[in-house]
Amino acid sequence: MADDRRPHLVVFSGSGISAESGIQTFRAGDGLWAEHPIEEVATPEAWRRDPARVLGFYNLRREQVRRARPNAAHKALADLERQGFRVSIITQNIDDLHERAGSRSVLHLHGEILKARSTVDARMQYPLPRGGIELGDICDKGSQLRPDVVWFGESVPYFGEACALVAEADLLLVVGTSLAVMPAASLLEHTPLDAPSVLVDPEAETLAPPGVTRISQPAGKGVPALTRHWQREGRLW
Ligand code: APR
Repeated sequence: MADDRRPHLVVFSGSGISAESGIQTFRAGDGLWAEHPIEEVATPEAWRRDPARVLGFYNLRREQVRRARPNAAHKALADLERQGFRVSIITQNIDDLHERAGSRSVLHLHGEILKARSTVDARMQYPLPRGGIELGDICDKGSQLRPDVVWFGESVPYFGEACALVAEADLLLVVGTSLAVMPAASLLEHTPLDAPSVLVDPEAETLAPPGVTRISQPAGKGVPALTRHWQREGRLW
């Protein structure tokens, strides 16, 4: 909405927001990358070397996502929007839990596991073939389909759109991310100077860059506490 004057809450979420839904985060000792080395499943080289292995990995992850349900944090953000607040979500997550909770403006910076994309054009998305992607499944332009996921070493196709959203935030709420991956983590630098930023993450104390308010709680507790506060006040603080 071009003339929308309501204060704009921009949320930047990472895998920690989905942890209480049973989806693994990446960098913990028992995280996804400890079990499945990045270079074997999440790079363009891995795809060239052994596409069947890469497809198998994402088939497993897709099942994990399908079994998961939105948790209190996803629901609180969707409720806030339903109450009339202006909420835009930028997520690093490839799950669809924000959408299933009811959020309507969700930008997936690192892709969507429940979609397929062309091997040659990151912005050409396709519905997932029934039963998942197989070698030999091609798009209407004749290229092999692959998971709609941004791999290490690839450019982030919607980064420009994400920067533009953050640049018009009245408040940036960051949830459940170690801020270890670029360029995603650099989004915080695009926050307007007069807009506060908050990080909700059990490790917030060590992760938050200077100037970012820290809420060292799990998302399922910290996010609903914030949204209840905003709803009571009738405004973002
Ligand atoms: N609530 C909120 N945060 C949590 C919770 C929870 N219940 N449990 C864990 N966390 C936090 C951790 O403290 C950590 O800061 O979630 C964060 C997860 O960090 P990472 O594993 O590094 O995941 P993320 O930041 O989402 O990774 C970014 O890296 O591998 C790539 O593309 C992948 O999108 C991913 C990107």
